[in-house]
Amino acid sequence: MTILDGKKVSNDIKDEITIEVKKMKENGEKVPHLAAVIVGNDGASLTYVGSKVRSCERVGFESTMVRLSNTTSEVELLDKIEELNNNDDIDGFIIQLPLPPQINTQKVLMAVHPDKDVDGFHPMNFGKMALDMSTFIPATPFGILELLDRYGVETKGKHTVVIGRSHIVGRPMSILMGRKGFPGNSTVTLTHSHTKNITQITSQADIIISALGVPNFLKAEMIKDDAVIIDVGITRVPDDSAARGYIITGDVDFDNVSKKASYITPVPGGVGPMTIAMLLKNTLLARERHRAYSK
Ligand code: GUN
Repeated sequence: MTILDGKKVSNDIKDEITIEVKKMKENGEKVPHLAAVIVGNDGASLTYVGSKVRSCERVGFESTMVRLSNTTSEVELLDKIEELNNNDDIDGFIIQLPLPPQINTQKVLMAVHPDKDVDGFHPMNFGKMALDMSTFIPATPFGILELLDRYGVETKGKHTVVIGRSHIVGRPMSILMGRKGFPGNSTVTLTHSHTKNITQITSQADIIISALGVPNFLKAEMIKDDAVIIDVGITRVPDDSAARGYIITGDVDFDNVSKKASYITPVPGGVGPMTIAMLLKNTLLARERHRAYSK
């Protein structure tokens, strides 16, 4: 069994990006600038955005964190997005999800200019992804592809089962694994809350990508020998013995599933750090495109 070490690979990617940024600076060019908008005080969202901003500093990007109160109206957020769209200094930005209930998420994601949409959530970018066109690929699925690529995990002709159909992970992942190319060329089954007899499906999978958010959902009895297991779950489970009062738990019963798997991602240290590394990669791409348009 091989651990797909997202922490190590994400550090390698950050080192590669740092070298690119150094070259930009040496050539007297502007470095990439990422902005992150967070609405409200959700603890997990604040942690993620904080990590994204710190990672920008590490690779030499500029970053701006925009914090808005929990009572922000949809119009106020749309105004802020317009400001970021028009700010020539900012190459890309993200709106951290989830948003408070008074705000229509679809409307907000549609307002982000596609050229600055480094999350790849705008329908134009999502459509381009589905049509194999060059675009921003959502960071978590992009990170999973990169992990499979760097470990040389074969995906061609394999049966990939995706658990969960969220717009951020499951849905794009199901599209990407079936695309022509590597990693891709899989036969994909997308499972969700209405799927019947899920064990019958997962037990036929060569690759399982679980993005459900239910701690320890995937048990050893649900997989076949030598399956590749990608765990996207990052649920905070209350635990009084932990310093923070909670532990981060994945969708996969790691101790037992890892005994049967050929490759497996740990939680934490698997997919999570890859998401941030790929957001940085998308921001670098946004900067390169922005510079090309501005010439
Ligand atoms: N919330 C959970 N994952 C993500 C992500 O990748 N991007 C944004 N913007 N919000 C998220």
